[in-house]
Amino acid sequence: MANPTLLILPGDGIGPEVMDQVTRIIDWFGAKRDLTFDVETDLVGGAAYDKHGTPLHDDTMAKALEADAVLLGAVGGPKYDDLDFSVKPERGLLRLRKEMDLFSNLRPAQCFDALADFSSLKKDVVAGLDIMIVRELTSGVYFGEPRGIFEEGNERVGINTQRYTESEIDRVARSAFELARRRNNKVCSMEKANVMESGILWREVVQRVHDADYPDVELSHMYADNGAMQLVRAPKQFDVILTDNLFGDILSDCAAMLTGSLGMLPSASLGAPNADGRPKALYEPVHGSAPDITGQGKANPIACILSFAMALRYSFDQGDEATRLEQAVEKVLADGARTADLMGPEDGTPLSTTEMGDAILAALDASL
Ligand code: IPM
Ligand code: MG
Repeated sequence: MANPTLLILPGDGIGPEVMDQVTRIIDWFGAKRDLTFDVETDLVGGAAYDKHGTPLHDDTMAKALEADAVLLGAVGGPKYDDLDFSVKPERGLLRLRKEMDLFSNLRPAQCFDALADFSSLKKDVVAGLDIMIVRELTSGVYFGEPRGIFEEGNERVGINTQRYTESEIDRVARSAFELARRRNNKVCSMEKANVMESGILWREVVQRVHDADYPDVELSHMYADNGAMQLVRAPKQFDVILTDNLFGDILSDCAAMLTGSLGMLPSASLGAPNADGRPKALYEPVHGSAPDITGQGKANPIACILSFAMALRYSFDQGDEATRLEQAVEKVLADGARTADLMGPEDGTPLSTTEMGDAILAALDASL
């Protein structure tokens, strides 16, 4: 059988640095676990703009649609701040999400025991935390029309539209319920049904899908602002949080920080299954391009490495190997390995990006 194919898009900022470590991990699985991927690397974001004048070349888009999975580093940077909106690095990522129809974005927020002290919240509030945010990723205010900046009388008006169809809500709700069944069987859906019609429809459709096909899953509804408050008050009340594109963007950053560092959190964006049963999929760390530390060898590669673990689980049916990789990460953290983002100023010398990669590779070797 042909090897599965991976398209790697390191992107901008710390993207290439953290992706280098992922490449080493991929090679390890080839050499030690007989799990070989055909890997191709290409440009996205500012890096693609610099070469092609567009944040995502059509050829790259075509490759992404062909690949069994896409791994992305990060996009954006101050250098591109003044670019026209249509060619900003972020547009490359949004185009991938839209054209691959990656409607279900899984963002786990898991607190590693070794890092519970590092959270800005009290240790007992976050220790053992394991929640999953399912964010709708291809619709809502990110894509709704009309949008733009228009003249109105003697001033301008900026317009974006929050828009959700029943089928868009239906399919992402199903993915959240399916996921909950494999976890603790609880979904909390968040919107603003108190002020938004799209929120009213969201709540109605989620409830309908639940009652028809997932009555065994415990479902609750919450206004998203209350959800933000509950996330920092008592995050362990949640199992799966289901929410729209914009609320999901905000709530997932908040959830991420509960775990101590944005540098720890992976994500998976999944579309509808292909003919072979595999969903179209893109995996990326939740953190961004971190221009402030780019090129210094300081970045934490764990979020990107754990994104590859999610690829093993969700695209390649290699749950055991995904667990092996996740446990290797857990092990190095328990042994005290820390990049700069996981340390206070007085905590000694942090590991470099490559040294963290070394440590994880050593833990993988030890797992055999
Ligand atoms: C994210 C990011 C993106 C988003 C940006 C880079 C377009 O913040 O993935 O959370 O807003 O979705
Ligand atoms: Mg975001």
